[in-house]
Amino acid sequence: MSNLDSFITRNRGAIAITALAGVSAVGAYYYYTTQQQQQQDQQGSTGATEDVNGSKKTKKSKKKKKTSAGGKSEESTPTSSAGSKSVEEASSTTTTAAVVYPVNSEGLPAITEDIVNNLSGDEKEVWALALKEDGNNEFKNKKFENAIAFYSAALQLKIDPIFYSNRSACYAALNDHQNVIADTTEAIKLKPDYTKCVLRRATSYEVLEDYPNAMFDLTALTIYGGFSNKSIEAVLERVLKKHSIKIVENKPKQYRLPSASTISSFFGAFVEDSSPDGISAESEDVADKYLFEALKEINANTANGYDTADTLLNQAVEAYNTSELTSESPKAGLASIALEYLSSFQFLKNDPAAAAISIEQAINLKPRARSFVIRALINADASSMNNAIQDFQLAKQLDPNSPDIYYQLGQFHYLQGELADAEANFNKAKELNEDNVYAYIQLACITYKNGGINEATEKFTAAKLKFATSPEVPNYYGEILADKGDIAEACKQFQIAARLQESLPNFSVGALPLINEATLISRESLEKLDDAEKLLLKACELDPKSELAKISLAQIKLQKDEVDEAILLFEESADLARTFEEKIQATSFAEASKMQMRIKNDPVLTSKINEIMRNTTGYQ
Ligand SMILES: *[C@@H]1O[C@H](CO)[C@@H](O)[C@H](O)[C@H]1NC(C)=O
Ligand SMILES: *[C@@H]1O[C@H](CO)[C@@H](O)[C@H](O)[C@H]1NC(C)=O
Ligand SMILES: *[C@@H]1O[C@H](CO)[C@@H](O)[C@H](O)[C@H]1NC(C)=O
Ligand SMILES: *[C@@H]1O[C@H](CO)[C@@H](O)[C@H](O)[C@H]1NC(C)=O
Ligand SMILES: *[C@@H]1O[C@H](CO)[C@@H](O)[C@H](O)[C@H]1NC(C)=O
Ligand SMILES: *[C@@H]1O[C@H](CO)[C@@H](O)[C@H](O)[C@H]1NC(C)=O
Ligand SMILES: *[C@@H]1O[C@H](CO)[C@@H](O)[C@H](O)[C@H]1NC(C)=O
Repeated sequence: MSNLDSFITRNRGAIAITALAGVSAVGAYYYYTTQQQQQQDQQGSTGATEDVNGSKKTKKSKKKKKTSAGGKSEESTPTSSAGSKSVEEASSTTTTAAVVYPVNSEGLPAITEDIVNNLSGDEKEVWALALKEDGNNEFKNKKFENAIAFYSAALQLKIDPIFYSNRSACYAALNDHQNVIADTTEAIKLKPDYTKCVLRRATSYEVLEDYPNAMFDLTALTIYGGFSNKSIEAVLERVLKKHSIKIVENKPKQYRLPSASTISSFFGAFVEDSSPDGISAESEDVADKYLFEALKEINANTANGYDTADTLLNQAVEAYNTSELTSESPKAGLASIALEYLSSFQFLKNDPAAAAISIEQAINLKPRARSFVIRALINADASSMNNAIQDFQLAKQLDPNSPDIYYQLGQFHYLQGELADAEANFNKAKELNEDNVYAYIQLACITYKNGGINEATEKFTAAKLKFATSPEVPNYYGEILADKGDIAEACKQFQIAARLQESLPNFSVGALPLINEATLISRESLEKLDDAEKLLLKACELDPKSELAKISLAQIKLQKDEVDEAILLFEESADLARTFEEKIQATSFAEASKMQMRIKNDPVLTSKINEIMRNTTGYQ
């Protein structure tokens, strides 16, 4: 019943936006619609207006290059070329006369420093434009190396962001991303909002897997686009995801137990084992003792007890010499139980491969119904649904009245949307194990899903009578009320659940009611942020392993503009999370927050954001 998924869906948008602009720009995001992208490329068409008749003008065809190629490449004065107006390029230019600059034996421009120094400012403009035009033609003909030579020559005569941009397009075509980045960086230095170059640079950064820089450029683009460019946002999200995956994949994989409330609800759905085969603390066999102590820790159900139980189970399995046992050995049954619990712990640590091996050993020794149920869970988790169904069948064959089967089978159907089958199995689970509070809760949830809030309320009320001290009942009732939109009553139920949990010696829902209430009220109004924060601080203290508590608190910190703390919390949450998807999600929140910091520290982007906000919302 993790509500992480809905949390993530709910907050994804908010995170993306705050990452872009800081909290204060959220308003701008919603109200600003009319921003138009500047047409950078029209700017800077420089010397085109000057009198073309006086001395020199552009346009030199390939043919001409070839003819002058015979001459000395060091030729310092452009040879006049009367009547050489280029036919092929007439359409693309308004200039009339042609100018010939020195070229080398390959027909490529050969501009020396001496030549440059001898030209007037106007002449430089004209030459540079001519060179650029020729570069464009080479580009059109896919002669990218040649085009680079022309643009480089143009840059010798005039530093112009367009020439850098043009040359970077050639490098991009040649997949020379280092040079794309070098040239676009020069262009952007000269013209910070040169979006064509920013996008091109972002693309090269992405290819080179320099995701943070790619994200920075993409974020800048969304800002220049007034936060209205959905296609850029989609690219930004894609790069953020790639970046997060890379971070998570590069971290050493470690298997850790989840928060105590998760383990508690896992084992809470099974019948308690306390002293199978009469084992006790006084048992002679050290293996039996380990197993007994492990079960005691599991049943005590405290935050720290599970780690101890984990150690004890490993010790028990070792002491039973499980690899040497056969199903005929007198200890086969107990060894099998130890392996079954070990497998459950490995499964909870999200190490399904190890869990599968352990449960196989358990089943080979002396399985009980629950052994097949555990294997069914491992199979279902790996989406091997047919194998899971088969395992449930095997469990039923072994012991049709085992209460351990039907709750999990009900859950299996529930998750597949087969509510009628789920209901039948939950009812059977309830019949066979009256103490399974989760069966009662799931039945009430199904009633709610089938449309009956009043009937669901009745069922929750009945469950509350039966399980008076159980925090689970009010917590999940609260979730249903929240889903229905009854915020006040939902909060009341969460508070009851939190109080009940507080008075218990053991863990059941743990920090969940606190997190649930905090999430609800923080969505309700900004004034309640402080209250939500207090609840979440308490949640983190109560259940330090709860990744949900950390990620929720981080969210609040972000809204309060305490970005450094938010980043730390997101990263802690990513470390605590067990599944890859949860890790990716928390990591991407952390990285998006880092990007937000970097944007804030960029004066050009910050002033642009402020400008957008002034124009659109009147916000200062
Ligand atoms: C070029 O100059 C000549 C004479 O100096 C003049 O007749 C002609 O109109 C000019 N052409 C342009 C395009 O200015
Ligand atoms: C510079 O220009 C002058 C006159 O336009 C010319 O006489 C001289 O040879 C040129 N020098 C170079 C180095 O091109
Ligand atoms: C060069 O820049 C001009 C002006 O911005 C543009 O029209 C042209 O498409 C560019 N050429 C290349 C190859 O990028
Ligand atoms: C979004 O940005 C891209 C790249 O700058 C641009 O090509 C596109 O036209 C923009 N779309 C809108 C709707 O502004
Ligand atoms: C496991 O093996 C050790 C040494 O081989 C032996 O002392 C011990 O009794 C065995 N344990 C069980 C439960 O068979
Ligand atoms: C927690 O302790 C209470 C009271 O001792 C007990 O009734 C309840 O079953 C325990 N819950 C769990 C999940 O262990
Ligand atoms: C904001 O308004 C000013 C004046 O109307 C305008 O010049 C500027 O381009 C606008 N800026 C943005 C980002 O819309």
